[in-house]
Amino acid sequence: MSSLIKSKKRSDALGEVFTPQWLVDEMLDKLPQEVFTDPEKTFIDPACGDGNFLVRVLERKIQNGSTPLQALQTTYGVDIMEDNIQTCRRRLLREVTGNKKQINVEDFRPHAKALKSNIKCANTLEQNLEDIFTGQE
Ligand SMILES: C[S@@+](CC[C@H](N)C(=O)[O-])C[C@H]1O[C@@H](n2cnc3c(N)ncnc32)[C@H](O)[C@@H]1O
Repeated sequence: MSSLIKSKKRSDALGEVFTPQWLVDEMLDKLPQEVFTDPEKTFIDPACGDGNFLVRVLERKIQNGSTPLQALQTTYGVDIMEDNIQTCRRRLLREVTGNKKQINVEDFRPHAKALKSNIKCANTLEQNLEDIFTGQE
């Protein structure tokens, strides 16, 4: 199992403790399942870390019939730490490229665009979500 904290300094300063996968699954099981079966339902983690919830949400949406692009376009995350956001975007992209060694970048341009606009580095205590997601990077 990967570590649930990156450093004591970060966990003290930011409350950065990642949720283990078993607990993520247990929590997602408690949600109304149309979150995953209705391709138009959106999900946001306003303190997403490196994406433990978002990766599982994306997987569940795709397993329940959303296209990978629909799933990405309805999945949102914000974190104050840029390194978490970069890792989160990478993990989500890996879910949709299926871990292939070589991909045709053109095929995944819309997916990369969705990731850039929906997974954002910002302070959710100081900015409202609408500003975060309509602002330009
Ligand atoms: C308890 S961790 C949870 C991470 C992830 N949701 C998970 O369950 O694995 C809290 C996260 O909130 C982020 N964070 C702390 N203050 C924040 C703020 N003001 N705005 C956005 N993110 C913040 C931290 O960087 C950290 O990744």
